[in-house]
Amino acid sequence: MKLLVVGGGGREHALAWKLAQSPRVQKVFVAPGNGGTASEPGVQNVAPTETAALIDLCRREQIQLTLVGPEAPLAAGIVDAFRDAGLRIFGPTRAAAQLESSKDFAKSFMVRHGLPTARHRSFDNARDARAYIAAERTPIVVKADGLAAGKGVVVAATREEANAALDAMLVQRRYGAAGGRVVVEEFLEGEEASFIVMCDGTHVLPLATSQDHKRLRDGDQGPNTGGMGAYSPAPIVTPKVHARVMREIIQPAVQGMAQEGHPYVGFLYAGLMIDSAGNPRALEFNCRLGDPETEPILMRLKSDLLELVEHALAGTLERAEAEWDRRCALGVVLAAAGYPDEPRKGDRIQGLPAPAPDCRVFHAGTRLDSGTLVTNGGRVLCVTALGDSLRIARSRAYEAIERIRYDGMQYRRDIGHRALKKSR
Ligand code: AMP
Ligand code: GLY
Repeated sequence: MKLLVVGGGGREHALAWKLAQSPRVQKVFVAPGNGGTASEPGVQNVAPTETAALIDLCRREQIQLTLVGPEAPLAAGIVDAFRDAGLRIFGPTRAAAQLESSKDFAKSFMVRHGLPTARHRSFDNARDARAYIAAERTPIVVKADGLAAGKGVVVAATREEANAALDAMLVQRRYGAAGGRVVVEEFLEGEEASFIVMCDGTHVLPLATSQDHKRLRDGDQGPNTGGMGAYSPAPIVTPKVHARVMREIIQPAVQGMAQEGHPYVGFLYAGLMIDSAGNPRALEFNCRLGDPETEPILMRLKSDLLELVEHALAGTLERAEAEWDRRCALGVVLAAAGYPDEPRKGDRIQGLPAPAPDCRVFHAGTRLDSGTLVTNGGRVLCVTALGDSLRIARSRAYEAIERIRYDGMQYRRDIGHRALKKSR
C-alpha cells in the first residue's frame, strides 16, 4: 500500500524510513520532505503541502493512509478535512489538537480532570496579569496561549522579566494572535521527560520514554530551541513513575477528551516535570510526536509501525504490543549557522556516513540542489545511534559526527549528560 507523511523535518524522515520497512508498504510519499527523504529507499518527496492539494494527491495516487508530523496542519484541521473526504489519516481532529494549540484550553482541561500540573491563571488583559504576577513568587512562567513555534514560553527569573514578556505578548503583540491570551504559571522544579503515547480514542499504547535537550548550548545554557538532541529510554521515568504518569496524566487526559466529545486519536506527547520525590506533573501536551525524540524512539521500535497505526485507527490498540530494542538510542542535532534566530541556508554538507544498522543520519533542514546536499533550515541533521549502553550509543553518534562538515555547523557535545550522571 502507499502512504503519505506530512512534514519535512527529522521526525518525518524517521517516520518515512520506519514505515517504508513495513512489508505491506509499497511507497511512502513525504510532503514536502527534505534532502534525506529524497534519497531514502521506498520514499518519494512530493511538492504540495496545502490540505486540498494533499487530498487530490491521495485520490490520484490511491494513498491509503496519511500520518501528520507537525502540529500546524493538525491545529488547522487537516484530519477533519481528510475524514470529510473519506480518506484515512492518523492524528487528532482540530478540536482534539487544542491540547497543544491552546495552552489556555490545555490548562483548564487539566484542572477540570484533576491532572497534576503547575498552578496557573489565564489573562487577556495586561493589568490583571501584572497584578497577579506582583502577588506571586519568582521565578514565574509566562506563556502565549497559541502556537508560537516553541518561542512562546518565558521562564522569568524576576517580576520585571515576567512583565516584559507579558507586554511583548499582550501589548506589543509580538506573537500575533497566539499572544492575545497568556497563561501565567508557577515555576516547577525537577527534571523534564517526554512521554509519548499512541491513542485510539479510548485505549493507549505508550511508546518508549525519552528526554530532549531544549537549550542551544552545553550545560543547558543559551536560548531555547526546538530540541538539540534526545535519547531513549529516559532513566528518570522509573517503572513506578511510568505507572503514575499513565494513571494520573495519560489516562485521565484520554478519558477527559472522550467525555468532552473530542476523542483523541493520534500521537499524544506529555511534557513532564518530575520532582526529586518522583512526582510527575504535566507541563504541556503536544498533539504529535516530538522532534528530535522520534529519531531515537523509532530507532528502538522493532514492531511494524504501520500495524500499530492500523490498530489505533480501528480502535483496537489494547490488542497491540510494541516491541522495543533493549539497547539505548541517542540522537545529536546538528544545527545551521545562526540557529535558532536566523538560520543560514545553502551551506554545502559533506562527509555523511552511509546508514548502518546502529547509526543513521536523519535529515531535517537539508535540500538537494542539483545533486549537492545543502543546509535548508535551522536544525539540519540528527545523527542517531544505538548502543548497549547510553555511553556507547553516544560515542557512536559523536564518532559519526566527526566526519560531517558544513560551514557554521553547531551542536551540543553533552547530549545524554543527565542520564550518564545517574548511571555513574
Ligand atoms: P512548553 O512549551 O510549555 O514545554 O515550555 C517550554 C519549556 O519551558 C519547557 O520545556 C520547560 O523547560 C520550561 N517550562 C515550561 N513551563 C514550566 C514550568 N511551569 N516550570 C518550569 N519550567 C517550565
Ligand atoms: N522536542 C520537543 C518537541 O517536539 O516539542
